[in-house]
Amino acid sequence: MSNPFRIHGVVKRPFFADREDEVARIATRLQEPAAKMLVYGERRMGKTSAIAVAVDQVHAAGGAAIVADLSTASTVADMTNRVLGAAGQTLGRKWSDVATELVRSVGVRLSMSTDPTTGAVWPSLDIGYRQAPLDEQQQTFGRVLDTLNAMAERRKRVLGLVLDEFQEIHRFGGEQAEWHLRGTIQHHEHVAYILAGSRPRLIRRMLAKGRAFYGILDKMEFGPIEPGYLAAWLEERMEECGVRCDKVGQECIQISGPRTRDVVQLARKTFDLTAGAGRADAESVRLAFEELVDEEDGPIRSWWDDLTPAQQNIIRAVAVTTAGITTAETRKRFSLLTSSAVTQAIRKFREDGDLTRGGPSGYVLDSPVVRGWVISKALPDLGMRLPSTYRPDDPYS
Ligand SMILES: Nc1ncnc2c1ncn2[C@@H]1O[C@H](COP(=O)(O)OP(=O)(O)O)[C@@H](O)[C@H]1O
Ligand SMILES: [Mg+2]
Repeated sequence: MSNPFRIHGVVKRPFFADREDEVARIATRLQEPAAKMLVYGERRMGKTSAIAVAVDQVHAAGGAAIVADLSTASTVADMTNRVLGAAGQTLGRKWSDVATELVRSVGVRLSMSTDPTTGAVWPSLDIGYRQAPLDEQQQTFGRVLDTLNAMAERRKRVLGLVLDEFQEIHRFGGEQAEWHLRGTIQHHEHVAYILAGSRPRLIRRMLAKGRAFYGILDKMEFGPIEPGYLAAWLEERMEECGVRCDKVGQECIQISGPRTRDVVQLARKTFDLTAGAGRADAESVRLAFEELVDEEDGPIRSWWDDLTPAQQNIIRAVAVTTAGITTAETRKRFSLLTSSAVTQAIRKFREDGDLTRGGPSGYVLDSPVVRGWVISKALPDLGMRLPSTYRPDDPYS
């Protein structure tokens, strides 16, 4: 039997669990003229997957919606290319002449690419355009969005446009880029925008009073799947594939929660280890977790080696302490520096995505596998031995 769980890329049914409310809301918004909605939450929660399922629903109902993934962009030109690519590849099949219209309206030189498998044709900016001045790149980005709005209007349709990881615009132009995006989208009556993003801290700042997105977006905070539902779904999937489960779902969430991907990754490994025997219990999940920790040893160790001793001590503390991270007690126990130095180091860890808010100490390691690694490999340095599955913010205690 092949594994019933997937952990790479976007997942759709049957690999996709629940999210009925979120998917329904996103799908509805994607077809509402002039809608502007923000979908935000920590990474690995399942936003992109829920959006993909919603976009499929829109298509199945005869509508038009596209997703531009801005997560890897290094310039505004790259973002424009993502939008052009999504429009050409997805819309090209539903609306005729999409590529021609874009080329005519955008006003800078575009080259055509063809997808060898689907035959879709889409335009992209000439490669040298990435070096154009920032304001020029922004104007072109705006013009592409204007063109999509005009195309939808002419066809008397609504175009759903998802800008996934939209907060990255901030990297290329700071607040000014935010205002530019706001100025562009706010007058579009024929596009429904979903702005999605995985950096809640940055996004909250973008929404604050006096900032560009204040008051213009409906908000949808994307949290964890209800644990009881997810636990039952995990076990159902495993049982369908021949593995009898005893408290497996609950244990996966207990060790890995609350990010959907982390939980599914552990369930996936548990399935691999138990498919032969045809039965799994909480102990199998703990063994699977240890295996994940071992498998990730290379990348985690090189991250660890690049930290300063002071930073390493902070990470050790966050991994296990149940007292506040800057309290005298914690600082003494883990040889931390002054509380202001600790606060500053934590700010950097949060920016890098290594730590997030939560737990009794105020912070948790973003990845449960990294936490397991720190506990099993770096706490023995202090003579401390705890099971790798230990978590200071135990959700069941
Ligand atoms: N509803 C879901 N059901 C099952 N697995 C999911 C679900 N949502 C997310 N996942 C898992 O999490 C991974 C990351 O999801 P993704 O949609 O990329 O999250 P995000 O966009 O929030 O970072 C997916 O590859 C999949 O393994
Ligand atoms: Mg995503």
